[in-house]
Amino acid sequence: MPMPVIPLDDQHWALTTPGSTYVIGVVIDPETGEAAPRQTYWGPRLGPEAARQVTDLPRRHLSSFSTPAEVEELLPVDGGKRWGAPSLQVAFGHVRSVELRFVRSEVRDEGDGAERLDLVLADAHHPFEVVLSVRVRADTDVIERWTTVRTGTDAAVTRLDSGNWFVPDADAYRYSGVFGAWAEESQLQRGPLPVGELVFTSRQGITSHIANPWIMIDAGETTEEHGEVWGLALAWSGSWRLTTTHRPEGGVSVSGGFGHDGVRWTLAPGEELVTPPVLGLYTDGGFGAASRAWHEYARLHVLPTPAEERPVLYNSWEATTFAVTEAHQLALAKTAASIGVELFVMDDGWFGRRDDDTTSLGDWFPHRERFPEGLRSMFDGIRDLGMSTGLWVEPEGLSKESELYRAHPDWALHLEHRRRDEKRQQLVLNFAREDVREWAVGWLDGLVTELDLDYLKWDMNRPFTQAGWPEKEQSQDRIWIEHTRGVYQVMARLRERHPGLRIESCSGGGGRVDLGILRYTDEVWPSDNTDARDRQHIQHGFSQLYPASAMSAWVTDTPNPTTRRTMPLRYRFHVAMAGVLGIGGNLAEWTSGELEAAAELIAQYKHVRATVQHGRQYRLAGTPGAERSAVQYVHGDQVAVLVYNPLGNAKRAPRRLRLTGLDPEAQYELERDGSRWYGATLMAAGIRPAAWEPIGPDYRSELVVFRKV
Ligand code: GLA
Repeated sequence: MPMPVIPLDDQHWALTTPGSTYVIGVVIDPETGEAAPRQTYWGPRLGPEAARQVTDLPRRHLSSFSTPAEVEELLPVDGGKRWGAPSLQVAFGHVRSVELRFVRSEVRDEGDGAERLDLVLADAHHPFEVVLSVRVRADTDVIERWTTVRTGTDAAVTRLDSGNWFVPDADAYRYSGVFGAWAEESQLQRGPLPVGELVFTSRQGITSHIANPWIMIDAGETTEEHGEVWGLALAWSGSWRLTTTHRPEGGVSVSGGFGHDGVRWTLAPGEELVTPPVLGLYTDGGFGAASRAWHEYARLHVLPTPAEERPVLYNSWEATTFAVTEAHQLALAKTAASIGVELFVMDDGWFGRRDDDTTSLGDWFPHRERFPEGLRSMFDGIRDLGMSTGLWVEPEGLSKESELYRAHPDWALHLEHRRRDEKRQQLVLNFAREDVREWAVGWLDGLVTELDLDYLKWDMNRPFTQAGWPEKEQSQDRIWIEHTRGVYQVMARLRERHPGLRIESCSGGGGRVDLGILRYTDEVWPSDNTDARDRQHIQHGFSQLYPASAMSAWVTDTPNPTTRRTMPLRYRFHVAMAGVLGIGGNLAEWTSGELEAAAELIAQYKHVRATVQHGRQYRLAGTPGAERSAVQYVHGDQVAVLVYNPLGNAKRAPRRLRLTGLDPEAQYELERDGSRWYGATLMAAGIRPAAWEPIGPDYRSELVVFRKV
């Protein structure tokens, strides 16, 4: 098998994945000696000879007013003859300009079929090195890129992207991305890519609810099942920016990186700055194949425990909000255990004097009135019921009304001579500080050890404002990066000390969902909105990039506490069964009939959960906004299809549902009645789901399961 990095000549390389080729090279301007590494090809896989033929197709220079080749550069700098959005912007003293020379290239075998190419460049005058790294792997079409800068002189960096990617020429371009707000995260948006610069960004210090750090681009005709897609995703959980440039004279590129406009990193001699990875994926199998490739990449190279089946959890938040007590939690736990729940998580309200959201973040000791004897006996009681245990924490949160704030007011992110504005009555602790990290590891480790916890729900309930670290003077802007790295570090240290510990990332719902945090957490909470109908839209957007095994999904009460919409229990279950099933309703108020139905649905979920969580996912029919929709999962011999019909009386929508991704020659047995069908039949003629029949109530749904014979 050819190695993934194939040198084509001294200055060009073909980076090869199972289904794609990415050709890059270093172009040296004969007049100025300036080196510009650039991409000359990214698309269907080519053999080395064909790849050699695409090393020299430069973009045409049109006039002295334009430099169209910038879009092809791997890291267009602010310097030389460029006017586009820079991927690297550095000031040396008063001179904000970079002129690079090519130093060398290095290819290294990283084992397991992964190879890495480093292109080392240096400023023509200042001791300032820039290393562009690209990693390709034999088991995925996702290509990883990142950038390192090292300086021997004072340098102020105002932009350092992980990489710029060029999307090949097409007649038209369309983008896809997800956008939203609190309680309506991950709304898929797809539309023509305007000429100009399109910026998706978070300036919040967290990934944000507003936009998620990925974009996919196609030529306008790609469908779920067919067509080419170029996708980029940034693996980072702080502020970020993806700038898509569509030049009027043609050419589209996407530059992605951490930090946002205005943030400045001053580097002293001897310092370096390394970016998080930006990931690129090409596929010709439509949006569905793109999503499956991202899911598979997350399983193979991101998630810490991808082989595990995530347990069915109960979370008390919607049932109790802050009013948690031992007796009530134990009562809920008893009911939860009786219907098949495997993990019990107590949410907010257990610590300090936390009776509402105005106080106590930082005071991570049990609430003295509610838990006078501590939490141990309650968690022992939960374990006695046969469940594992979890607890809500918000380590980065800090209430002004807390013992911690009174002792360490300087631990909050703050700026000199500026207010400390609160959001949700709280500030943010500065995780860039070593003393804060030590404190966090200390109490978290103590808590997990003392209570023998299996699970933490790690929340983060407010974006940064007035973010600074006055003692750091020149380099205080670094908290925008180092806070996030600090969070990663604390999570990593905690996991190292407690290999059995699992972590859920939450940020007021889906404010911190990205391929950076998923390296340290096992699942994420996509939204505080648990309305099943709204959730379908959120899950649809979520599934574009992230796998079902990372998507926490609860069944809650009806009418839904957020939207007041009433929906049948089955429908609520079937929507939550598309991810990691959890229960978040007030079980004390569920009728015995509801509990019985819930127990049966939980058992059904366990029967298909390996398939849902680890299988290949096909968004079969309809977007969630359509009258009828369905999602299919295939894993080993099992095929599970979740079918939805929210508008029961819709007359015109399709009745038959064609499956996909099956072996046409094989026979599949419908579990419900033992009937056998060829894969070819199921894919060509389809099935006729009962929930799709024309006359019937709203919110019908079903789970259809086949087994390959
Ligand atoms: C955030 C989370 C919720 C819940 C509350 C607790 O809003 O998203 O799930 O944990 O905090 O205060």
